[in-house]
Amino acid sequence: MSSLLVDNIGELVTNGAGEGPLGIRRDAAVLVEEGRVVWVGPSAYAPAADRRLDAGGAAVLPGFVDSHAHLVFAGDRAAEFAARMAGEPYTGGGIRTTVGATRAATDDELRATVRRLRGEALRQGTTTMEIKSGYGLTVADEARSLRIAAESSTETTFLGAHVVPAEYADRPDDYVGLVCGPMLAAAAPYAKWVDVFCERGAFDVDHARAILACGQAAGLGVRIHANQLGPGGGVRLGVELDAASVDHCTHLSDADVDALAGTALSDGSGTRTVATLLPGAEFSTRSPYPDARRLLDAGVTVALATDCNPGSSYTSSMAFCVALAVREMRMTPAEAVWAATAGGARALRRDDIGVLTPGARADLVVLDAPSYLHLAYRPGVPLIRQVMRNGVTP
Ligand code: NIG
Ligand code: FE
Repeated sequence: MSSLLVDNIGELVTNGAGEGPLGIRRDAAVLVEEGRVVWVGPSAYAPAADRRLDAGGAAVLPGFVDSHAHLVFAGDRAAEFAARMAGEPYTGGGIRTTVGATRAATDDELRATVRRLRGEALRQGTTTMEIKSGYGLTVADEARSLRIAAESSTETTFLGAHVVPAEYADRPDDYVGLVCGPMLAAAAPYAKWVDVFCERGAFDVDHARAILACGQAAGLGVRIHANQLGPGGGVRLGVELDAASVDHCTHLSDADVDALAGTALSDGSGTRTVATLLPGAEFSTRSPYPDARRLLDAGVTVALATDCNPGSSYTSSMAFCVALAVREMRMTPAEAVWAATAGGARALRRDDIGVLTPGARADLVVLDAPSYLHLAYRPGVPLIRQVMRNGVTP
């Protein structure tokens, strides 16, 4: 059994015991064995190890956990982005454009895109990335999307209910039947989660409830795209179904915030559902950002993710989302870094990632900076010096 000591860490973000909400330790070291953290402590008292990685006084933090990404697609929508920047609104209507391109692509073309984007994210410090289907929308195309996604992640999500495809436009009930029946059956072997785009123009609350319940019955965990483009019942539906996460949360009522904060539960036990905010989407659609402060002040657990997709948010950079959250959503740098690491882990119901404490996976990043603060303070600068996943430098 070979061990590795990462030492001479000027500032270690553990998200566990330590100073402040990030559990910071200074002049620290981390001992790794068989892909796991086995010891964390002062660098001066570090145990001997077979190999050593000298962090040179830099900051080390848990690898980013990107809990929301749509990587299985073909083509891009750069022209749609340019039109938006010239004043066109975002409606989600472009999803069907990507569906057409995705259906026409070969398996190898889709695989190459997933690998390219997964590699791009990894180099930027993302050690866990959820990957959704949702641009196939036939039984065969959703199944192959998830088969390809599962080659790159264990966190795979069936999003057959992304939009109603054109061929079902005048019979959405039939499409919901397809999603709950043969499509779910074909997709479930490759999926861990089920998701629905619950929004005007996509799926209403009744359809979303039916699809999520079928997915749950097939053994999948629940997540939901909710309240992105306007108000609606999606967030409350997610809480009702004990979704791991409700994602976007841009247009929230007091009742939505209460439901997420758990105050609507009579026994006051609270909800486990995380609110995942996706500021890359508001950036790329030039929309008002979600009110993160309102959620945090109400005690809601907040995660940050990229929403990486060719339409509303074509970024794979968690550091960019951290910077947006701090500058545009008034999160503190500490809140944003927690949300992009431990928060993402909560949104995936994982306790082995997003933290650097004994027993956790050795997924970490060494920054080219003395503090996590620099992620927001130096936006757009490539600050990830080294990435380790499962104790190995990829
Ligand atoms: O999460 N909102 C729905 N789905 C994606 C956007 C998909 C697209 O525009 O292609 C999202 O933002
Ligand atoms: Fe999304």
